[in-house]
Amino acid sequence: MNESIYLDYNATTPIDPEVADAILPWITTHFGNPSSSHEYGRTAKKAVDRAREQVAFLLDCEADEIVFTSGGTESNNLAIFGSLRAAPGERKGIVTSGVEHPAVARPCDRLETEGYTVSRLPVDAGGQVNAEDGISSVSRNTALVTVMLANNETGTIQPVRDLSRIAHDAGALIHTDAAQAVGKIPVRVSDLGIDFLSIAGHKLYAPKGVGALYIRRGSKIRPFSLGAGHEFGLRPGTENVPFIVGLGTACEIAGRNMAEVSERLRSLRDMLHGLLVAEVPGIHLNGHLRERLPNTLNVSFPNALGRRILDLSPGISASTGSACHAGVDTPSDVLMAMGADAETALGAVRLSLGHGISEEQVETAAQALIQAWRKARTI
Ligand SMILES: Cc1ncc(COP(=O)(O)O)c(C=O)c1O
Repeated sequence: MNESIYLDYNATTPIDPEVADAILPWITTHFGNPSSSHEYGRTAKKAVDRAREQVAFLLDCEADEIVFTSGGTESNNLAIFGSLRAAPGERKGIVTSGVEHPAVARPCDRLETEGYTVSRLPVDAGGQVNAEDGISSVSRNTALVTVMLANNETGTIQPVRDLSRIAHDAGALIHTDAAQAVGKIPVRVSDLGIDFLSIAGHKLYAPKGVGALYIRRGSKIRPFSLGAGHEFGLRPGTENVPFIVGLGTACEIAGRNMAEVSERLRSLRDMLHGLLVAEVPGIHLNGHLRERLPNTLNVSFPNALGRRILDLSPGISASTGSACHAGVDTPSDVLMAMGADAETALGAVRLSLGHGISEEQVETAAQALIQAWRKARTI
């Protein structure tokens, strides 16, 4: 077993034991194809239908507004390419933010090379878009606004509800990548007024390789892969029944426990922050102080590389937002978009908490990080 304290729940979560139990029959005895009309097929179809209802219940929408996919990346790609393909010809504009996950940023880059105009809304020092900037960027030529609900590196929550209003006033559609938000904070599509919303199973204790896209009834979208008529004709291919069952179960569990779990994680996260602030003068919080996921703490350690701190604390499994190529660290695009200088961005460590974490582990982790920073600091 791994002894290291896992503080990287925004990267991925373990599968909840209840989810694993729910999956088991679907990889053993209940192996039918949901498209088959015999008993095996009907049983599998019922399981997929039930999972669809469980996801829809968490998001407060109808079951036929949920399309299962292979994860957050595919959901984002389907929403972006699929909605643009169906948009009226004169609408060639996309509005996004400067802090999107690559699963949104790269599709937007690609569309830019194909003649679409892409406006990237700036963010403030806390990583938040100002909805007012949306008003000047969204026009009658905008086909789609795509701004994430919560950022994977900082946890900052975006004003998606305001952006929805602005998009709809201009006759545009709006998508949000909610891969990090669903399961951690209440996400109701009706409150957000959104047309498309992406989910990734492995961020909420379901397996990797499964996700969903919410598509508001009547929203215009075309599939980008073609085949048989699965998933309302939008995502062809035999359904991954076991993982879909897992995603449905994970959504049900998330809805059941959310208030209690998020309060516990918020308090542990704030305790971790407090312990670090007490011993590391000049440590800097990256992200919004309040409008932030309850489990996420991204901090820049002064005069030290985040990567070095983590190398010196092998008992902690966490991440930095920076990339390392050929021994050279490149600072996180997200932190740079927030106006951080390169040194601050390179000092960042993302600590993201989840179900398995205890108070004792938080204390141990804080001490390990403090010791590592003392060794790693350059002055
Ligand atoms: C905000 C966000 N969007 C999309 C994704 C991609 O999801 P998946 O790994 O399921 O493709 C991630 C995962 O890192 C994410 O954090």
